[in-house]
Amino acid sequence: MKLVEVRHPLIQHKLGLMRRAGISTKEFRELASEVAALLTYEATKDLETVDKHIDGWAGPLTVHQIKGKKITIVPILRAGLGMLPGVLDLIPAAKVSVVGLQRDEETLQPIAYYEKLTGRMDERIALIVDPMLATAGTLVATVDMLKAAGCKRIKGLFLVAAPEGLKRIEQAHPDIEIYTAAIDDHLNEHGYILPGLGDAGDKIFGTK
Ligand code: PRP
Ligand code: URA
Repeated sequence: MKLVEVRHPLIQHKLGLMRRAGISTKEFRELASEVAALLTYEATKDLETVDKHIDGWAGPLTVHQIKGKKITIVPILRAGLGMLPGVLDLIPAAKVSVVGLQRDEETLQPIAYYEKLTGRMDERIALIVDPMLATAGTLVATVDMLKAAGCKRIKGLFLVAAPEGLKRIEQAHPDIEIYTAAIDDHLNEHGYILPGLGDAGDKIFGTK
């Protein structure tokens, strides 16, 4: 499995701000989107380009254009929506394939409740966005869904990942590429990442 912990100073600074107790919904939401944009920059570094001949202001020239059907962004409801604006800032024309999964608070098992994928998934790179990779139950189920739809190349962007979840996703889907702003210490007995961010969905939406 390709695993990149993106240790760019801007990402580390912004993630540090997100970890503060008592952070406002507004600030958490803004930072989630900003870090998502920076992770997108890193995760798209290896996209293939093709030459395109155009008329430039000073005459004909060759420029580069991203090859193929391009990307579909896959935000996992609901917390993944908090990262979507930052990803769209960098890839404004991307098709968005929304999936809804919620972790049962007792069993920690993901319950899938929504799936609306764009067309030709077999020709696209899927970019999953979700702030937290904890036990990886949600991610494994999402990748199962995308592969069932024909997806062949899948990348995932996360703000924080737990070692336990990384081990599980590597066993279930070793072909996935993971980009995360941090690999934290461990999960607590309730399946929360420590030091983590707390409940990312609640912080993005201002619930609880
Ligand atoms: C959170 C988070 C991930 C999932 C991670 O969502 O955004 O989707 O938990 O946990 P896992 O790796 O153990 O599966 P949650 O289920 O709290 O739903 P929400 O986004 O609707 O708040
Ligand atoms: N979901 C969250 O929002 N936070 C965690 O730490 C784990 C799962």
